[in-house]
Amino acid sequence: MHQKTVKDSQTEQVQLILPEDLNPSGRLFGGRLLAWIDIVAAITARRHAGCNVTTASIDRLQFKEGAFPGDTLVLKGRITYAGNTSMEIRVDTFREREDGRLRLINTAYLVMVAIDKDQNPVKVPGLKLENVTEKMEWEAAVKRKELRKERKFLGY
Ligand SMILES: CC(C)(COP(=O)(O)OP(=O)(O)OC[C@H]1O[C@@H](n2cnc3c(N)ncnc32)[C@H](O)[C@@H]1OP(=O)(O)O)[C@@H](O)C(=O)NCCC(=O)NCCS
Repeated sequence: MHQKTVKDSQTEQVQLILPEDLNPSGRLFGGRLLAWIDIVAAITARRHAGCNVTTASIDRLQFKEGAFPGDTLVLKGRITYAGNTSMEIRVDTFREREDGRLRLINTAYLVMVAIDKDQNPVKVPGLKLENVTEKMEWEAAVKRKELRKERKFLGY
């Protein structure tokens, strides 16, 4: 199976925060952001795997700042690790300021598993790392994978 690069599957989605996206205190509802993050991760993983995927886990979801009605959000997904059938995807969410500059408000890591038509895990292409940042992300992802395995073994 041929390798793919990080760039091959990078995904970007833009959202305008509308009244239906808010929680009772007038900020962006965290569950809505999570749904957008899950979609960006799924599209990124599908582009890498070339088939359907499902979300196995979501971790390191950090809400650094709130977002408010009328804000423009930019979500950027990129693959950090490809295993046998699983992929780790990082999704960064930014608030776009009026001058066009981006301010990071959330970072999330998701594990997506490639599945066939019978819902069974299937092999994914390898990941060709092209720079130091991608290599560092890969090494950190390997450590996170070990931690997840331990947590799964311990039942939480
Ligand atoms: C994800 C799923 C397909 C994995 O099936 P499984 O029988 O556990 O498969 P395996 O044990 O062979 O694991 C397959 C891969 O998933 C990874 N994986 C499985 N459970 C995981 C978890 N909880 N967290 C992170 N990775 C996980 C394994 O490490 C493995 O990766 P690798 O092949 O790259 O080494 C299965 O657990 C499932 O269907 N879960 C529900 C997914 C879902 O419905 N998501 C939507 C949420 S509403």
